[in-house]
Amino acid sequence: MYILGLTTLGDAAATLISDGQLVAAAEEERFSRIKHHSGFPYRSIEYCLEEGGIRIGDLAHIALYWKPWVLRHKALQAVKSLTLSRNMFSARVNRGVAQVSESYLGMFRYPHLLRRHFGPSTFKFHYLEHHLCHAASAFLVSPFETAAILTLDGTGEDTTTMFSRGEGTRVRPLKRIKLPHSLGQFYSAVTNFLGFDMFAGDEWKVMGLAAYGEPRYYDFFARRVLSANGDNDFRVNIQVLDHHLAKLYQFSDEAIEALGQPRRNGEAIEQRHQDVAASAQRLLEDVVLHMLQGLYQQTREENLCLAGGVAFNSVMNGRIMKESPFKRFFIQPAAGDAGCSLGAAYLVFHSICKRPRNFQMEHAYYGPQFSSEECSAALREAGLHFETLPDEILLPRVARLIADGAIVGWFQGRMEFGPRALGNRSFLADPRRADMRSLLNQKVKLREWFRPLAPSMLEECVTDIFGRPHHDPFMITVINVLESQRDRIPSVVHVDGTARPQTVSRKTNPRYWQLIREFEKISGVPVLLNTSFNIQEPIVCTPGDAIKTFRGASFDALVLENNLVIRS
Ligand SMILES: [Fe+2]
Repeated sequence: MYILGLTTLGDAAATLISDGQLVAAAEEERFSRIKHHSGFPYRSIEYCLEEGGIRIGDLAHIALYWKPWVLRHKALQAVKSLTLSRNMFSARVNRGVAQVSESYLGMFRYPHLLRRHFGPSTFKFHYLEHHLCHAASAFLVSPFETAAILTLDGTGEDTTTMFSRGEGTRVRPLKRIKLPHSLGQFYSAVTNFLGFDMFAGDEWKVMGLAAYGEPRYYDFFARRVLSANGDNDFRVNIQVLDHHLAKLYQFSDEAIEALGQPRRNGEAIEQRHQDVAASAQRLLEDVVLHMLQGLYQQTREENLCLAGGVAFNSVMNGRIMKESPFKRFFIQPAAGDAGCSLGAAYLVFHSICKRPRNFQMEHAYYGPQFSSEECSAALREAGLHFETLPDEILLPRVARLIADGAIVGWFQGRMEFGPRALGNRSFLADPRRADMRSLLNQKVKLREWFRPLAPSMLEECVTDIFGRPHHDPFMITVINVLESQRDRIPSVVHVDGTARPQTVSRKTNPRYWQLIREFEKISGVPVLLNTSFNIQEPIVCTPGDAIKTFRGASFDALVLENNLVIRS
């Protein structure tokens, strides 16, 4: 039984499963080359069908991550919060609401669009609740038979936060928190206040910046903007900080009085901005920990699944693992909306078709791959000089290049699902070089100096580095590095002594594991610096994307499967 899951508006994606096994999953942005692509994911669907070797007529079910008829709540909320502003431009409001309506209402035409574009088919089409898809995306592919589930995002149809319990093939919602009370929207509003762009997914920047600040504004945020309350709940006061107004770069007098003027994009980052980031970050963590206490009391589960865009907050995840009552955790690599396509497909398979569970997501490699011959053909066509080498020669050679200071664009196997490059579409460099972070951020990736870079490490060596066992194949949790280890790998340790590691397993990515092992043989360090293979655009997908990036940038070597290009 083939089932296709779809995410369409923002981080559009498609996922194909076959009898409960994950066949293919990819974000549309990788094909369209538009970050966070919003729109119908034609190319992701094409890819999924091709990977599965099927046609649309072979699909029994297609499931969407959204119930468009719940739109009115969201639209009403947008109008309500917009009318709070004294400086509102009604034309902008009307346009905004009209756009929202158009795009969500367009969902009713999806079955028709699918048949028109891909051909006749008898699939059954399902509209599923957004947060249920988030919850399913984590729990139904987790190693757990039962678990508590917390999903957190900007908003679904009107739910922003959901407590659930996962039991076998079921996800049972326990509680929903609705607009305007949204942790994701609170964080996005702070993102815009700090001069970053919530539409570009710049929330990462706030988290990175927070490590440089002191939470001086914590009390203001906790008292006036976001407060936890006794019922394992939280409240956002949109009179003081409103997401819809922040979108338009408008902030209340009270917020400006307390926090100072909002920063404009491109202005210098001052200590005050770092302190605002630190305060919002700390408060987010505290509110989520507060809710998790309640979720634990309610479920008495030891396993926790997290999903939704806020679950990408790896610093928060680190505190959850350390301080929440739960003992075991699972966060799926596409925790944001792209992952809802996966959740939707599994919801249909288990909850609607009542099939038993038979799959665990142990890695993220579910995207397109290209043979070494396809890669060499692309290199030849581009007129680049390259050598084709067997792994026994190539891997030690690449490890040596990295140890000698090279930054390598590393391209192999199936592309990752989710925003993290996990060793198949990555820039790799030497973590021992303290200057590597600024070199990579500013000279290669052309982005802010404060963005932390993360390590990939052999899973066998994790305890040596962190002083305790840790399993995170998806690079989604920040934890403390042992003090004695920080000087060994300075470019992947953040200013506060933490790192966001990918633990690399020989089972799920043997070739990447071997490359790190070769680096360890030379350097004594079982760690590589790993950041995504992209410069100001989505992570590379094809050999052509990788070659284009190589040509336009200043990194030293490119590996496309078994082909090595060294910049002269
Ligand atoms: Fe979401």
